[in-house]
Amino acid sequence: MRSDCPNRRPTRRAALALGLAAAALAGPARAEEARSIRIGIIGAGHIGGTIGGLWVKAGHAVMFSSRHPEELRGLVESLGANARAGTPAEAIRFGEAVLIAVPYGAYPQLSRDYAESLKGRVVIDAGNATEARDGAVYAEVKANGIGATSAKYWPGAHLVRAFSAANYRVFATNANRPAPRMAIPIAGDDAGALDTVKRLVSDAGFDPVVVGPIRDADRFAMGSPGFGHDLPAPELRAKLGLDR
Ligand SMILES: NC(=O)c1ccc[n+]([C@@H]2O[C@H](COP(=O)([O-])OP(=O)(O)OC[C@H]3O[C@@H](n4cnc5c(N)ncnc54)[C@H](OP(=O)(O)O)[C@@H]3O)[C@@H](O)[C@H]2O)c1
Repeated sequence: MRSDCPNRRPTRRAALALGLAAAALAGPARAEEARSIRIGIIGAGHIGGTIGGLWVKAGHAVMFSSRHPEELRGLVESLGANARAGTPAEAIRFGEAVLIAVPYGAYPQLSRDYAESLKGRVVIDAGNATEARDGAVYAEVKANGIGATSAKYWPGAHLVRAFSAANYRVFATNANRPAPRMAIPIAGDDAGALDTVKRLVSDAGFDPVVVGPIRDADRFAMGSPGFGHDLPAPELRAKLGLDR
């Protein structure tokens, strides 16, 4: 820092005191906003790679995972020091929040392997079920809805559905666009988890729109009128009938 009067330069102790005073004035909410979050990602394909990359650029620490983590070397090297690679189990241990971005057909197996360790954790669910890809679990989603089905596979997790309602290219193209930003619908039952995911949606470069509890994820499920938009928040809210 330049100073016209070197003798008045604050000592290191004074600078620390000033910094602490400024932090106290900013309050806990501001400090929380500035804090980097550790995020684990299960499935570093199109959606996990895209959204995880946006979080790395926003300053969060992200562990991408694969059943073959050595194959993620190029991805993490291109993203820099805040990105690392591991197995799904390592990503779950690493993350304060965990993004699930795998084909929905893998949910029954992943649930058997990891649901226990995800209990009480913030879990962001981007998965969609398609008939051609996901087999029997697609019928389950058709019958019970995507929100209820995801809640069944991640019992006890603080589940929030997000980043599920548009193609990854739409997220990549519209992230951090000039105002008005693209809005992303999210749904979940836990208020604290919703707050965390609202912040992570915002840090990825979008405006979060809370649609309701987890069962309301059906309002922006694949094939529903709430799916597939890159609208600003007021238009998305109108499309979802949230202001009626
Ligand atoms: N693509 C989109 O535009 C988009 C948009 C919104 C939502 N989604 C949903 O997001 C999910 C992921 O889609 P995607 O397009 O990103 O798929 P993707 O590019 O095929 O990537 C899926 C990733 O899941 C991992 N994976 C697959 N089976 C697994 C298992 N049993 N255990 C652990 N990891 C497994 C694979 O990693 P390894 O093989 O390396 O382990 C792969 O990297 C899907 O449910 C999809 O419907 C996709």
